[in-house]
Amino acid sequence: MATLRSRFHPVSSSSLAKKQHLIPGQDDPLPEGEDKSTMVEAMFDLIAPRYDLINRIMTFGLDLGWRKSTIDYLLLPTGSLVVDVGCGTGDLCRYLTARGYNSIGVDLSSGMLASAHGCPHLIRANVEKLPLPNSSCDGATSGFALRNFASLSRVFAELARVIRPRGRLSMLEVSIPSNPLLKAGHTIYFNRIVPLIGSLLSDKAAYKYLPRSVEYLPPSWKMEELLLEAGFTDIAITNLHGGIAQVITASRASS
Ligand SMILES: C[S@@+](CC[C@H](N)C(=O)[O-])C[C@H]1O[C@@H](n2cnc3c(N)ncnc32)[C@H](O)[C@@H]1O
Repeated sequence: MATLRSRFHPVSSSSLAKKQHLIPGQDDPLPEGEDKSTMVEAMFDLIAPRYDLINRIMTFGLDLGWRKSTIDYLLLPTGSLVVDVGCGTGDLCRYLTARGYNSIGVDLSSGMLASAHGCPHLIRANVEKLPLPNSSCDGATSGFALRNFASLSRVFAELARVIRPRGRLSMLEVSIPSNPLLKAGHTIYFNRIVPLIGSLLSDKAAYKYLPRSVEYLPPSWKMEELLLEAGFTDIAITNLHGGIAQVITASRASS
């Protein structure tokens, strides 16, 4: 495991300035494929230094409980090896370690990895091509990363490759509540207040893009179909706090 330990450096300010123009404006179409991966990496490099602070503020700290639930839903024994994909600054890896799991965090953004702390093993890689052998992990987690991936089917296929048969998957994501009153309040908060907080404390374009990125999330039935096709079973989607967040869980089918 020691060979997986790496050092990451914050991205220079001149390089960040070049990356800023990649984030789509309000009227620009959302990028897809390779363009999306390039934009996502640039955007997270840009917002990495204040990412944790803004997460805590904009969720009123609720994300901490959601992360704990995500790990509860893994249902794996302590000592299991869990890969956290799109690990960012390592929140889930830290929780995994605190619960007695062995964790490996994987992310594309060197800026996010440079801001990570308390994570024993970090790798800079694309989740679509994990540098891990077949069936080498007992489970995988992800936090708010699904809508940032360029192809969910390729990511799920890669997770099915590295997770051993009967291993577990637990993925936290934002969601849109179905209750009309909650949905109206959530829309105002997510589309107006979150970009305002982001523009005051971090990058305006990035936090305007954030609510739009929910458009990338497939409906539940499609998410289940993609997971089944990739080789997962026992799929469950659990809503948290009235449906403003969700945890998607599944088991790797025994082959
Ligand atoms: C919203 S952040 C989530 C960070 C962290 N998991 C959390 O819970 O706060 C999404 C992360 O996914 C990463 N990401 C997006 N696409 C990726 C890919 N194809 N491979 C690896 N990481 C990716 C981004 O760089 C970013 O750090």
